[in-house]
Amino acid sequence: MRTKFIFTSNTDLRAQIWAWRRSGETTAFVPTMGALHPGHLSLIAKAKRHASKVVASIYVNETQFAKGEDLNTYPRNHEQDCKMLKQAGCDLVYLPKSMYGDHHSTTINVGGPALGLETAHRPHFFAGVALIVTKLFNCVQPDMAIFGEKDYQQLLTIRRMVSDLDMPIQILGAPIVRELDGLAMSSRNQYLDETGRMIAGQLNLILGACAKNIMDGTDIKTASQNAQHDIIKAGFDSVDYVAVADTKSLELLSKKRKGRPARLLIAAHCKGIRLIDNCALN
Ligand code: PAF
Repeated sequence: MRTKFIFTSNTDLRAQIWAWRRSGETTAFVPTMGALHPGHLSLIAKAKRHASKVVASIYVNETQFAKGEDLNTYPRNHEQDCKMLKQAGCDLVYLPKSMYGDHHSTTINVGGPALGLETAHRPHFFAGVALIVTKLFNCVQPDMAIFGEKDYQQLLTIRRMVSDLDMPIQILGAPIVRELDGLAMSSRNQYLDETGRMIAGQLNLILGACAKNIMDGTDIKTASQNAQHDIIKAGFDSVDYVAVADTKSLELLSKKRKGRPARLLIAAHCKGIRLIDNCALN
């Protein structure tokens, strides 16, 4: 019998997941907000390498958008997304119509790696992500879940939450997938017009040059200031941060120390579109 591919009901989803579990299958989960691109498909590919069944979800999560952000205009093409997931070898898509009941009143307060960086500019964001990811984990009950390193702070926040709340789920990171000019792939890149897209392609080059300067011995403050200057010179509207942080805790570092793995993280606005990128400093 052919297994159904798209599930909209949590009850049916659980029945399928438990049927798989009873026959010894393992499940890897890839949560998404749709508008899929090759970056998402690389997460599916990684999931397939680690588990016998791959589940993806598509849900544009209202609690991670602040008022005035792009919740209503966020690109939605679920039919096309489901086709792409099927072709990539995903076994099941969870496509809930809504995830929050009328009386929903529970929140999750995240700390540790969630503090600073993105939170300084989008204070609502990680609480919304933590809430939806927890709810999706409860629905899918996967053995593992895959998150892209483009949203590096999100990856660490989820990892910390899962550990703090004793969720029996392994969290795997997957490398950033880039366009030919190095721009990190993101569903929001499609908002960029032609000029914006050309400017955006510079961000990865500036990130790489800044990383090299730090590795060659330039102090973090000077290298970050130079990178901020270069970002504005390249045509960006503004810079939210250029920062170096500990790879695991995301504690901000003012000095690069030998033997302490670090990450360089950048957020900047290009023609009204907010872009983030990061790389390892090693
Ligand atoms: O990274 C994303 O696409 C979203 O933040 C996630 C993890 C699917 C939660 O809505």
